[in-house]
Amino acid sequence: MMSQSVLPLATLAERSLRAVWHPCTPLRASSQGAGEAPLAIARGEGPWLFDTNGRRYFDATSSWWVNLFGHANRTINAALTAQLETLEHVMLAGCTHAPAVELAERLSALTGGALGHAFFASDGASAVEIALKMSFHYWRNVGLPGKTEFACLQHGYHGETVGALAVTDMPIFRDAYAPLLRRAHVVLSPDARQARQDESATQVAARALAELESLFRERSGQIAALIVEPLVQCAAGMAMYDPSYLDGARALCDRYRVHLIADEIAVGCGRTGTFFAWEQARGVDMGLPAHTWPDFLCLSKGISGGYLPLSVVLSRPVVQKNFVADDLGRSFLHSHSYTGNPLACRAALATLDVFEQDHVIEKNRHREQWLADAMAPLGSDRRLCHVRQRGLIWAADVRPEVAGTNFAARFHYTAREHGVLIRPVGNTIYVMPPYVFDAEGAKWLASRLEDTLEIVAPSCTEGEVRIDSEERRAA
Ligand SMILES: Cc1ncc(COP(=O)(O)O)c(C=O)c1O
Repeated sequence: MMSQSVLPLATLAERSLRAVWHPCTPLRASSQGAGEAPLAIARGEGPWLFDTNGRRYFDATSSWWVNLFGHANRTINAALTAQLETLEHVMLAGCTHAPAVELAERLSALTGGALGHAFFASDGASAVEIALKMSFHYWRNVGLPGKTEFACLQHGYHGETVGALAVTDMPIFRDAYAPLLRRAHVVLSPDARQARQDESATQVAARALAELESLFRERSGQIAALIVEPLVQCAAGMAMYDPSYLDGARALCDRYRVHLIADEIAVGCGRTGTFFAWEQARGVDMGLPAHTWPDFLCLSKGISGGYLPLSVVLSRPVVQKNFVADDLGRSFLHSHSYTGNPLACRAALATLDVFEQDHVIEKNRHREQWLADAMAPLGSDRRLCHVRQRGLIWAADVRPEVAGTNFAARFHYTAREHGVLIRPVGNTIYVMPPYVFDAEGAKWLASRLEDTLEIVAPSCTEGEVRIDSEERRAA
């Protein structure tokens, strides 16, 4: 029998497979195979992640959309070091502290005071739970306890706790738990890819709004809130839609007395070109003021710069006003132990400092253009369709004829070989990089993706020949 000391040392990835239950990862019998072992990361620096063998990877999706200013960011590191010396944590029930107060004040100021009363939690799904519960409880407090239902968009994603999953229209995550969930009303998504012949993105949005209105006409007495991901349904495969949908949904929610919850967990913090995606609501066609905010706005992911779990729900002043009462039953008795953690709030304050001091929103306009320019050759590739970009999210769908089976996994592993960490959603290739790349960096990324595509779906496949012949037939 071999003694412990002569056993070969297990790699970090092997130990991880034994000790850690990895999220969103099927436990296939074959998962012990090297191909599916997790990538063991030793450190990060700027947009780069370095594995335990010293190989570097460009973090093309900002580590699940959380990282804004690169890894090991000096400003955030310094702020956290200082905070560690002062106060690491205290409960927010009955106590308060400067980072939570300052953060709540600054976030409210960013909405021009339209939203406020920050309710903190840790993850995105918790923020969604809070917004849903607050909405229901508000209606109960104003004498409408029958508003117990929610509406969400087709293919929308809002997290995987039981409440959030109920407003998530993704069978892959939802179906196994269906018996536990109170199903929401699912309405047509304004996803511009659904355009019929000669239909514009605005017309798709109008069609989706018409469907929303018919639901409201029938059931608004029972519906507490509509929840949407403004502008981009990220988990749906970066489904982008026209901002007119936001104005239209706001107007319908007002007309039918339904709350509007903007889930900006993925699209907030500058991702779509403005700090809040909602700032791009036009409010023009409907005769509304330009900045007509939702009733609730959920933020998470990027708000702490990608450093610590933090989420926050901002709401309109009228919401909190209706929870003011001596009767405990009217109070929002919701909490998480780490609510408003000072370290997480300090990281968020440092993140807002970087936005201000480095004029990030302005500079990102250049990055948007660099990304668009660099991706242009890929964008005109005949293997891809629905090429789209909103702010610093670029996406394209690989035609099913050329994608073959298991496209996302094959693209992921091949891109890793080319020094890029990327996880397509189905046949959708997308990048959502940290805001720290220049024109050269964008070109480098695009060329690596082109090389990857060439291997995963070579340009002269049978599939492409099929596209050619279909086009010939159509002509
Ligand atoms: C729009 C949206 N809402 C909610 C969530 C859930 O956030 P978390 O994973 O932090 O629970 C996500 C996560 O991807 C998301 O994209």
